[in-house]
Amino acid sequence: MIRIIHSISELQKWSMDQKKQGKTVGLVPTMGFLHAGHLSLIDAARAGGADSVVVSVFVNPTQFGPTEDFDQYPRDFEHDRRLCEERGADVIFAPAVSDMYAAPVTCWVEETEISKGLCGRTRPIHFRGVATVVTKLFNAALPDLAVFGQKDAQQAAVIKRMVRDLNFPVRIIVAPIVREEDGLALSSRNKYLSKDEHDRALSISRSLFAAKKALESGIRKDALAETGIIRKALEEAGGVVDYVEVLDPDSMMPLTDGSVRPALFAVAVRFGSTRLIDNLRVERA
Ligand code: PAF
Repeated sequence: MIRIIHSISELQKWSMDQKKQGKTVGLVPTMGFLHAGHLSLIDAARAGGADSVVVSVFVNPTQFGPTEDFDQYPRDFEHDRRLCEERGADVIFAPAVSDMYAAPVTCWVEETEISKGLCGRTRPIHFRGVATVVTKLFNAALPDLAVFGQKDAQQAAVIKRMVRDLNFPVRIIVAPIVREEDGLALSSRNKYLSKDEHDRALSISRSLFAAKKALESGIRKDALAETGIIRKALEEAGGVVDYVEVLDPDSMMPLTDGSVRPALFAVAVRFGSTRLIDNLRVERA
């Protein structure tokens, strides 16, 4: 039976016990409502060398803006427990909000460069909330390694920078995006999409993969111009585009030269009231 831990001190004790036994601890941070994408993170933790895996399930209020979907965010602990157990995780850490955030909160962790562009423009407090809660999860789970999904490419870059700049002794693994058979990147928010919105949202992966093919085959050469082609495809499908950008995959800074490779295309777009993000890396032609 998978062990459920709610208390921070109990998780710290569990982690220290694992280490005393010579075991490597892997952390998979999630907000629950798990899907195949999250489960692939558990596999990535094992493949990366974790002997013991803790999955945190915590819908973190500080990364949601005042008008965002914190209250509606889907939650199903029993479903999450079953999936984690089937996938062989050792522990679920499910703290209460009041244990993670004793009021008033006056200390934050903030990354000030990578956080500012892309999703940071429309979600100004989001990455401060993410960096703060991930710091708290690191202090609770004391992991040797932690796994994040490439789907949230900007988040993964922020966490890597935080770990580097603040000297956390945690190895970060970034696991590839898992897609539905039709190409839509898995996300807990896909649940909000109607069938029609889901069909129209397929324009995201289709336009990204078309850009990759055109640039890698050399049919088209300019990655900056390609962002315009992607934007047009999303708008024709009825999407309201937040951004389509092409970036340096390591620094996450926007490219100013469309011939530079590798490059990362990143998209945020709304279909109906659901905001979706996706990204795809393009290698050399
Ligand atoms: O990617 C997520 O689900 C969240 O942003 C994370 C990393 C669990 C922090 O709340």
